[in-house]
Amino acid sequence: MYAEVDRVLGRQAATMQSYPQLRYTEMVFAESMRLYPPAWAMGRQSTRPVDFGPYRFPPDTHFFMSQYIMHRSPEYWEDPLAFRPERHTPAAKAVRPRFVYFPFGGGNRQCIGEGFAWMEGVLSLATIAHAQRWRLHFVPRHPAVAQARITLRAKFPLAMRVEVSR
Ligand code: HEM
Repeated sequence: MYAEVDRVLGRQAATMQSYPQLRYTEMVFAESMRLYPPAWAMGRQSTRPVDFGPYRFPPDTHFFMSQYIMHRSPEYWEDPLAFRPERHTPAAKAVRPRFVYFPFGGGNRQCIGEGFAWMEGVLSLATIAHAQRWRLHFVPRHPAVAQARITLRAKFPLAMRVEVSR
């Protein structure tokens, strides 16, 4: 990702024009949302009986679908806790079953901001990883712990030391 950001941005700030070239950065963003999906679960309430495989659910059943669980399932992901952006190459995505990876939900209520969020996430990440301008170093005494609220977030501030490049 550092190499790609270096090649695509040089010393310029990330813009809409750089976005299509930041393909590996996008894979890093995708892999971050696999292990730490901002929407970690979502729910539905049935209004009528629902047949689902061998099960029949009455009206008013509450269903929960968890991105956090599916994104870490050893049934679908090899070595699921390993951070591997290569899981998100176009070829790998083409053979992935639907709803194994769904950070933006799906169906009728699919996130309306998905396209914008990909662009915003990739350009933010490229800006953070813009080593020609600065480098951020994690300060180890601040533990990186996830906390599941309505969204999944960092439990403690992620303190960084900023080294400005010359
Ligand atoms: C990384 C960023 C984001 C993530 C992970 C995310 C995730 C989601 C998910 C999972 C849903 C579906 C919830 C459900 O089905 O119960 C959703 C819905 C929605 N999102 Fe996002 N979202 C993101 C960014 C955005 C942005 C940037 C916007 C607006 C600019 C946005 C607007 C919406 C709206 C309006 C809905 C409701 C759609 C509907 O119910 O028809 N989201 N989002």
